[in-house]
Amino acid sequence: MTDLRAVAWRTSDQSIVLLDQTRLPGRQEDFVARDVDDLIDAIVRLVVRGAPALGAVGALGVALAMTQAQREGWDADRLASEVRRVRDARPTAVNLAWGTDRVTPLMPQGIAAVLDEAAVIMAEDEAANRELSRLGADWILGRTGCDRVRVLTHCNTGFLATTAWGTALGIVRELHARGALELVYADETRPLLQGSRLTAWELQQDGIDYLLQVDGAAASTILRGLVDVAIIGADRIARNGDTANKIGSVGVALACADAGIPFVVAAPSSTVDVTTPSGDDIHIELRDGSEVTALGGVVTAPAEARGFNPAFDVTPARLISAIVSECAVVEPDGQSSVEALVRE
Ligand code: MRU
Repeated sequence: MTDLRAVAWRTSDQSIVLLDQTRLPGRQEDFVARDVDDLIDAIVRLVVRGAPALGAVGALGVALAMTQAQREGWDADRLASEVRRVRDARPTAVNLAWGTDRVTPLMPQGIAAVLDEAAVIMAEDEAANRELSRLGADWILGRTGCDRVRVLTHCNTGFLATTAWGTALGIVRELHARGALELVYADETRPLLQGSRLTAWELQQDGIDYLLQVDGAAASTILRGLVDVAIIGADRIARNGDTANKIGSVGVALACADAGIPFVVAAPSSTVDVTTPSGDDIHIELRDGSEVTALGGVVTAPAEARGFNPAFDVTPARLISAIVSECAVVEPDGQSSVEALVRE
């Protein structure tokens, strides 16, 4: 397991240092956000991405805005509106707003207090990921009865998407560490290829055996009996258990339901949003159609083609076998069980 981090605060020049995920796997480069515009650009272009990583960025973004306010002499209204811009830079992953909101009350105490809380958020995220990985691995081995499981995963949920370790990929790492992992089928995750560029890169580094497949292969792989469990992350879990995650997730869930294998959602409690009643209330980010009509910068469709590019979908709770957080494993059956995912 690498010591690399997706997100860090650099004290020497009061900047946020991000491992630039648009360059991976070809190049390992940092992107340095020195002001709010830099940070919003990084969030929108997916230099940094993944719900828990966005939570850390939201908290650090408040500190970044405060340093810029000092430098440029902003008044309180300007500072508040810049913090709101960070908070709203992407709509679906609740963690971005959650991380921003958690440190905002500390702003009157100064930048150091905000940074201290951001550090707590990051430490808690790593601890949560490690704990939910243990709980998830226990549940999966118990439910499947397998000594060694074959896992399908979608998008990237590893250390790149979090502050460390990972969520769904954290469970994969835990299974691997226990000698209980046979093989991972990683979906490539069109249009931006988080699976092939990022998940494959992480699995490779850990020496985990995997096959990369196109998203369109997932249902067939599951129905052919090649998979024992699908594990995905989450961007927002609504009060009724409906879960938003990378586009393509609900298709995986439907195939699992038909094949009678478990579909598991893994996320820290910071991704649970009890203020959102159901999946119908989740704002799904609609990205530019040009991400669909091109691949890796090369246009693949007729010039007139219009791309439809929802970045996420919603898997209804009825298709989810288990949701795992650091607090509990729940088999969704309504409001009370989802609330167990969040420690009081
Ligand atoms: O658009 P992205 O790359 O930010 O989407 C990421 C996902 O959908 C992840 O599965 C989710 O954020 C969970 S990350 C632990």
